[in-house]
Amino acid sequence: MPPDSPNSGPTLRPHEYDGIQEYDQKLPNWWLFSWYITMVFFVIAWVAYYQFGVGMSDEKNIETAMAKIADFQKRELEMIDDDKLWAMSKDEKIVTAGAATYSTTCIACHAADLSAHIAGAKLPGLPLNDQEWKHGGQPTQILTIVRKGAPDLTKGMPPWEPQLGLQRVVEVVAYILSKHEKGEPATLAADSPLGAPK
Ligand code: HEC
Repeated sequence: MPPDSPNSGPTLRPHEYDGIQEYDQKLPNWWLFSWYITMVFFVIAWVAYYQFGVGMSDEKNIETAMAKIADFQKRELEMIDDDKLWAMSKDEKIVTAGAATYSTTCIACHAADLSAHIAGAKLPGLPLNDQEWKHGGQPTQILTIVRKGAPDLTKGMPPWEPQLGLQRVVEVVAYILSKHEKGEPATLAADSPLGAPK
């Protein structure tokens, strides 16, 4: 048994396990006070938050944040029109970014050359390089289809905005438009839900 602590320092506790003994140490004051403060804070916070409803709940916080995002997106969308999309289709940086998204996300159904055909075989998507559009050939109409998918989702064109976000959707539409000319004739396909072919 080792000697007890000299002077008036911490005393050695009598118990011993596997030859290990411990001193009866007092915790430092800074530690104790931090601990007391957290306990007091907990009680105050608990009463305030759960009993009196002070402060916003997580749900409320999320709701506010989501509303802000929706509002922001709405304002962004209001700024996008056909002319802006045509202008973006001439912007090399935007088109390059759109091409990258296209090649990872759209190629499987619309083909690398936008023809929706690969080696003569028809892919599930519609050609995007011709002048016939099922859902309208105006840039904002194309944007809507890519954002929200085809009105009849069972046709196989999913909504992309939830996955890609608005910016990448806009870029990919600019890329499609870069393969077209503003003012070129755009016809509606025979099976277009928008009306009889013109
Ligand atoms: C899983 C297959 C698939 C993928 C992937 C896909 N599409 Fe489609 N897409 C379709 C189908 C099918 C249609 C036709 C929907 C219909 O008949 O209403 C379509 C229609 C469209 C149209 C409307 C064409 C028209 O004639 O009006 C556009 C534009 C379009 N896709 C763009 C895209 C873009 C951009 C991407 C990538 C972000 C993409 N698609 C990814 C299957 C796909």
